[in-house]
Amino acid sequence: MAVYPTKRLRRLRYNPLVRDMVRETYLNKNDLIYPLFVVPGENVKNEVKSMPGVFQLSIDNIVKECKEVSELGIPAVILFGIPEEKDEMGSGAYNDNGIIQRAIRAIKAEVKNLLVITDVCLCEYTSHGHCGVLDGENILNDETVSLLAKEAVSHAQAGADMIAPSDMMDGRIASIRKALDYKGFTHIPIMSYAVKYSSGYYGPFRDAAESAPAFGDRRSHQMDIANSDEAIREAESDITEGADIIMVKPAGAYLDIIYRVKTQFQMPTAAYQVSGEYAMIKAAGKLGWIDEERVMIESLIAIKRSGADLILTYFAKEAAKYLDKN
Ligand code: PBG
Ligand code: ZN
Repeated sequence: MAVYPTKRLRRLRYNPLVRDMVRETYLNKNDLIYPLFVVPGENVKNEVKSMPGVFQLSIDNIVKECKEVSELGIPAVILFGIPEEKDEMGSGAYNDNGIIQRAIRAIKAEVKNLLVITDVCLCEYTSHGHCGVLDGENILNDETVSLLAKEAVSHAQAGADMIAPSDMMDGRIASIRKALDYKGFTHIPIMSYAVKYSSGYYGPFRDAAESAPAFGDRRSHQMDIANSDEAIREAESDITEGADIIMVKPAGAYLDIIYRVKTQFQMPTAAYQVSGEYAMIKAAGKLGWIDEERVMIESLIAIKRSGADLILTYFAKEAAKYLDKN
C-alpha cells in the first residue's frame, strides 16, 4: 500500500465531479416514509407546537396531504390515529369504523400510487395512554397481543398495504402474522418496530398523538437505552416470528444499533428519525444556530450510511424537494 507522499487522499476531493464519482451513500426518495396524524372532524389542520411543519389533520385534509406526498415522489406514509373517544381497552384501535380505518378507505379511494402503512399500538386509543391492557399498573402482554392482532386485521380489511406494530409486546409478530394469514392477508408485509428504545426523543410525538401515559413510563416493554446485544435478540425474535422489515427507533442516537442489526441479519432495515430528532434540528435551525437544510440531509445520509434501507422521517417532504433540486 502506498504511503505519503505517493498516497494523497485529497486527490479525490479537489474536483467536484470526482467527489461525486466516489460518493458512497445516496439518499433516494424511495427510502422515505412520511408519518401522518389523523384526527376527527372536518377541515382540521392543527400544527403541533413542538414540531413546526407537522400537523394533526382531519381525514379530508389527510387525503389532500397524501396526494401531495405522492406527487412529490414519496412512496409511503405511516398513519397514526387520534380517536374520538378513548377507553381502558383502546377499542377505537380495532373498531372497523375507527379513525384509521376510515382514513385508509378515504386515501385508497382517492390516491393512487401511495403505500399506506399503519402503526399498530394501543397507546393512542387507551384512556390511560399505555400501549396495552392494564391490570393495576401492569401491562398484560398476551391480552394486549390479541387486541393488536385484531387491530392489524381491521387495518388490513380497510385496505392498509403494510402493518407496523410499535408496541414491543412479546410474541406480537407471530400473533399478528397468524391473524392476517387466517383472514387471507398472506400478502400484507409486517414492518416490525423490532428494536424500540424507551427514549426521551418521543416527547413531541406524544403531543402530536395525544398519547402520553397518564402515569409511569414505557420501561416495562421498550428497551433500555444502554443495551445493544439485546437489540440483536429483539430483532432475531421478530424475524423468526415473521417480520418482513425490521425497524430501529430512534435513529440518530442509535446508528451503532442500525449497523449491528443490518450487518447481523441482512434484512430490509428501517430507521425512525423520531419527533425529538426532528424538533431539535427545527429548533436550532429557526434560531439560526445551524443550517437546517444541511443538517437535515446530513442526519438522513448518516442514517443510510449506518445501514438503514428505509427512513421514517418528518422531513420526508422537505428531503424529497431537496432531492428534486439537487
Ligand atoms: C406508539 C409510537 C410512538 C412513536 C411511534 N409509535 C410513541 C411512544 O412509543 O411513546 C414515536 C414516534 C416519534 O417520536 O416520532 N407506540
Ligand atoms: Zn404504544
